[in-house]
Amino acid sequence: MNEHDRREQLRSARPDTQAVRAGQRRGPEGEHSEALYLTSSYVFGSASEAAERFSGEACGNVYSRYTNPTVRNFEERIAALEGAEQAVATASGMAAMLTACMSWLSAGDHIICSRGVFGSTTVLLNRFISRFGVDVSYVSPTDYAGWQAALRPRTRMLFLETPSNPTIEIVDIARVSEIARAAAAILVVDNCFLSPALQKPLTLGADVVMHSATKYMDGQGRVLGGVLCGSSALMEQAVAFMRSAGPSLSPFNAWILLKGLETLRLRMEAHSASALALAQWLETQPGVLKVNHCGLTSHPQHALAVAQQRGFGGVMSFEVEGGQAAAWRFIDATSLMSITANLGDAKTTIVHPATTTHGRLSASEREEQGIRPGLVRVAVGLEDIEDLREDLARGLAALRD
Ligand SMILES: Cc1ncc(COP(=O)(O)O)c(C=O)c1O
Repeated sequence: MNEHDRREQLRSARPDTQAVRAGQRRGPEGEHSEALYLTSSYVFGSASEAAERFSGEACGNVYSRYTNPTVRNFEERIAALEGAEQAVATASGMAAMLTACMSWLSAGDHIICSRGVFGSTTVLLNRFISRFGVDVSYVSPTDYAGWQAALRPRTRMLFLETPSNPTIEIVDIARVSEIARAAAAILVVDNCFLSPALQKPLTLGADVVMHSATKYMDGQGRVLGGVLCGSSALMEQAVAFMRSAGPSLSPFNAWILLKGLETLRLRMEAHSASALALAQWLETQPGVLKVNHCGLTSHPQHALAVAQQRGFGGVMSFEVEGGQAAAWRFIDATSLMSITANLGDAKTTIVHPATTTHGRLSASEREEQGIRPGLVRVAVGLEDIEDLREDLARGLAALRD
């Protein structure tokens, strides 16, 4: 079978097959693992060929800020997994968010953003995008009347994250997508917490999926990356911004992320199973006021999570009695988990959101998002669950000291 036919066959392959094979164009060396094209520029056979490539008359690579074969391999693979026509890779998740705003918004436009989003997303919108004449309104993620009421004639984009960070609220993507569609606005969903292995927002009506690929796509905490997935019409606008502004993904990082995608589903299932078991156990422990994990039957949107997702994810948060001092004592008493803000790593991470990931928000913004001083977030890794339980027990013991 020739390369073209092989790629056509992969288009209709099942997700586990696409995760390990989609997007690969085998080179003349016949390499089995994807080639890493660590090059910034490309050589032309003649001055006229260079001119044709630059003008777009001829297809082909010009410069790695525009295109790179390893980055394209990653883009095609993630597009296949998300069920998108096209994907555009970026240097980080925040670069993907910036690219979305710069590509699809103009001065005078309005965004409605869920309150339950990553801290830097709020900072980017409030401190930077707003300087270019774009208005931002915030709504409670699950207040659908609130989404509707916030619409204005110039509302161009609705943005949400589900499950939300760090309080694990579940937003009904189909419901918000209907509100967006009726207003001719774009719905962008940050799918970082579940990845396409557990949730496909485009099939639920979202227009664009955004990722911090830094998280579960890498899966081992090595590189930064981001991606936008959606229709070719929207992605071509993002490509145009990327080419001129340059928040492009490095080919080395793309290669790492490609390898990460190959094991994504298996890892997501393992992260999810351990997180749920630990969340169920924490719920029974004295000193723990509330546990947030959408796999718990006590979670207010558990039924929606069951309907909308194919798993519950590896991130949970919980509130301990005694506020910030108690939360810090808990975190400091753990000895296996890494105290770091990253998530989606094979190594379990633990963090105090109010003073780290969401520390740049005002106290009232944190309160509105439910990020209370006693809240601790754990992104459950792939270690033995009994070792993790023992580590959490060290934290619990410190609450009693
Ligand atoms: C949900 C979510 N979205 C976006 C980002 C930003 O991604 P990056 O750190 O790759 O820029 C993060 C980072 O933690 C995140 O957790």
